Amino acid sequence: MQKVLNKYSLKYEVKSELAQLRLEHKAQPLKQGDDKYLYKESLLQTAKSKIRTLVRPNMRLVPATLAVFIQCAALLTVAAIVWAVNFAAAAYLGMNLNITIFTLVLMQALLAATFSYLAGMASWWRWIHLCFPLAAWMMLQWHIPSAVYLVGFMISLSLFWTTFRTQVPFFPSRPVVWHQVASLIPQDSPVRLIDIGSGLGDMSMYMAKTRPDSQIEGIEIAPLPWLISFIRAKFRRSSARFTLGNYQALDFANYDVIFAYLSPAAMRMLWNKASKEMRPGSLLISLEFEIPNVPESIRILGNKNTPDIYVWKIV
Ligand SMILES: C[S@@+](CC[C@H](N)C(=O)[O-])C[C@H]1O[C@@H](n2cnc3c(N)ncnc32)[C@H](O)[C@@H]1O
Repeated sequence: MQKVLNKYSLKYEVKSELAQLRLEHKAQPLKQGDDKYLYKESLLQTAKSKIRTLVRPNMRLVPATLAVFIQCAALLTVAAIVWAVNFAAAAYLGMNLNITIFTLVLMQALLAATFSYLAGMASWWRWIHLCFPLAAWMMLQWHIPSAVYLVGFMISLSLFWTTFRTQVPFFPSRPVVWHQVASLIPQDSPVRLIDIGSGLGDMSMYMAKTRPDSQIEGIEIAPLPWLISFIRAKFRRSSARFTLGNYQALDFANYDVIFAYLSPAAMRMLWNKASKEMRPGSLLISLEFEIPNVPESIRILGNKNTPDIYVWKIV
């Protein structure tokens, strides 16, 4: 109920703010030149920011779910436009318009990209929305057997698993970085280290090799990378241990060092957990991604080939 009320009060707010802007504008004498442009711009900005407020925080959609809604909304809009245009053409011109499938796909792509912009999605989503209908149409032209799609889907699912929810895709770190991380870990005593989101396990196996005195673990949410890391560790006789699971379920108090190579979207939640659970003196190390408004204790600057490394020493 509260949610519905919020939604309507926001809609009301948008309308009244736009009306207010129009009134203010009417009250002031029109100046020459860019004044009209600025007025239009401010109206547009207000409308856009309010639409974003309506679409995003209230609905609390992860971007992938919002993307599905956007494609559906674009599809319905295309259907409505085509129906209206055909109806008008038949009624007033007595003709039937033959709109090609490609035109429909193009309309869907352009509309979806526009909706994604209006909903305030990150800029790369506009390209995804634009390319997705066109790519689907192209694939249909090739008459690929449906089993190929199923296999592709199964591979993607086991590789990326809940990436749509965690917003952390798989991409491996590089050996030069493992070396830098190893130099940050206390050398005088054994440590218990975990790579949260261990991917194919290379980073953990490297650590296990360079620090045989320590207990090195990896946890991975996606089944395929986990299985690969598990089998590789057996073949290489690595002492690194790999678990299939969500790092959110771990107790960070059990570790001296936590290594994370996640994504900007995951950092705030990671810090909430780490700051509550990690013991004083333990280290949280993040490759490439900083935690907004939490100054790091150490930062190793990268170069064009390696990202920065951030270290927070828990106090
Ligand atoms: C960028 S990759 C890093 C791989 C590895 N740490 C490395 O340095 O090569 C991030 C990995 O974290 C995994 N991941 C994302 N969220 C997770 C979670 N909540 N629990 C466990 N693993 C997660 C993803 O499936 C992905 O494989």
